[in-house]
Amino acid sequence: MKKINIAIDGYSSCGKSTIAKQLAKELQYIFIDSGAMYRAITLFFLQKNIAASDIEAIRSEISNIHLHFEFNTTTQKNEVVLNGVNVESQIRNLNISNNVSHYAAIAEIRKLAVAQQQSIGKNKGVVMDGRDIGTEVFPDAELKLFMTATPEVRTERRYKELVATQPDITREEVRKNLEERDYIDSHREISPLRQADDAIVLDNSNLTMDEQLALVKNMVNEKLQ
Ligand code: DC
Repeated sequence: MKKINIAIDGYSSCGKSTIAKQLAKELQYIFIDSGAMYRAITLFFLQKNIAASDIEAIRSEISNIHLHFEFNTTTQKNEVVLNGVNVESQIRNLNISNNVSHYAAIAEIRKLAVAQQQSIGKNKGVVMDGRDIGTEVFPDAELKLFMTATPEVRTERRYKELVATQPDITREEVRKNLEERDYIDSHREISPLRQADDAIVLDNSNLTMDEQLALVKNMVNEKLQ
């Protein structure tokens, strides 16, 4: 059976991981949330008190970062393991979100993450979501989606997700974080967030999850023929 790679890029909190996870389940593909890698790397440097501006320290520590994924059968998700520790529960908070784009803009960090992502995808059968998957990681991906939704819809979605574990969080903080990350992610020098020329734009502001899945499944089926 033919296998393809599916690249899903777009702004923060557009539901990229949700659709990627659903697709991977349907197709029995590997789902990789590439943002989790940048979040884990950010956690590593924050734990060591190394600022994103301290390039020398980042260069000398980078070879001490070892990442891999392990499948959690309960959440049906590949979770990121940093130097032997599953850090999934430590990388989704606002502190990591407020710092991650600064570390993700650094060449050495991107090199480390991209090499590993490409190696995971070399045999096809991967659904990967991120910011540069269609442009940089899998430029030959058979299906590329570029997802978007209005800032209001995205803020509300992420707020609902975060407030469950951080009850003091405000919508304003969430909105500001999304805005800042989108700006930094799309203005950085190395592989900025942008729509690949051959990506299909999917605005899901007014789509239910079922509608969205049906739409994307049709796109996949076309590519698999
Ligand atoms: O997908 P996410 O929101 O968890 O990603 C967190 C950050 O990681 C995002 O703001 C930018 C960075 N990132 C990136 O630079 N390239 C990717 N392929 C994925 C994420």
